[in-house]
Amino acid sequence: MRDKAGLILAAAGRGERLGAGVPKQFLKVAGKPIMIHALETFEKHPAISEIVVVVPPGKEEEVREMCRHYALSKVGRVVCGGETRQASVYRGFQHLSLEVGKVLVHDAARPLVSAEMITRVVEALKHHGAVICGVPVRDTIKEVSPEGKILRTLPRERLYLAQTPQGAWRSWLGEAFSWALSQGKEFTDEAALLEAAGFEVHVVPGAHSNLKITYPEDLWIVECFFKNSLDTS
Ligand code: CTP
Ligand code: MG
Repeated sequence: MRDKAGLILAAAGRGERLGAGVPKQFLKVAGKPIMIHALETFEKHPAISEIVVVVPPGKEEEVREMCRHYALSKVGRVVCGGETRQASVYRGFQHLSLEVGKVLVHDAARPLVSAEMITRVVEALKHHGAVICGVPVRDTIKEVSPEGKILRTLPRERLYLAQTPQGAWRSWLGEAFSWALSQGKEFTDEAALLEAAGFEVHVVPGAHSNLKITYPEDLWIVECFFKNSLDTS
């Protein structure tokens, strides 16, 4: 009954670091709003049964219209987000229909998510209660004091960059949210929330191309990937 997979698209941020004057997920790359690229990939994926999009206050109608325009038939709800990413994802979570037992969360600012990544997350959720896409770090990571002195070098072999999509069983995510709310705790992604709540979280391969548009130069890189339509699996 509860074996369907649903997506929460986190698209309620302000894009302050990019500083475009509008939230970055509304900017166009490769001819389409950034958030539409990811939505199209999830829309086409057979394992995804429904999508809830979480947007900034006042943007609900504009996004509903965009979803109609791009024929995104799986988008059931477009709801207003919160001040933090966690609050936004929680709002989305409350609007998923009850048949959804596996919850995926994706950043609207990652337009290069691939069908293979979605498959890997959904498949892993057959055996694990929580999973994220991740990639091994390429550079050596240093812990540095506020004065600029290196405190230590972290062993690179075990370090991964966390990406989205991230997924969890509905029961696990629901419990983790209730715990965080009761403790007044905030986390930057679902994995951190689930880990802190005591759940085991696994990693499946993401891709370095699955970058999150954060600063202006990221727009160039993403545009380049689309132009050369590189394999982003
Ligand atoms: N997000 C959200 N609700 C928030 C904050 C962030 O849904 N209150 C979403 C963003 O829209 C984005 C994803 O979470 O798709 C990752 O966040 P981030 O890259 O930090 O985006 P912004 O918060 O928009 O950017 P900035 O931190 O530079 O303001
Ligand atoms: Mg942010």
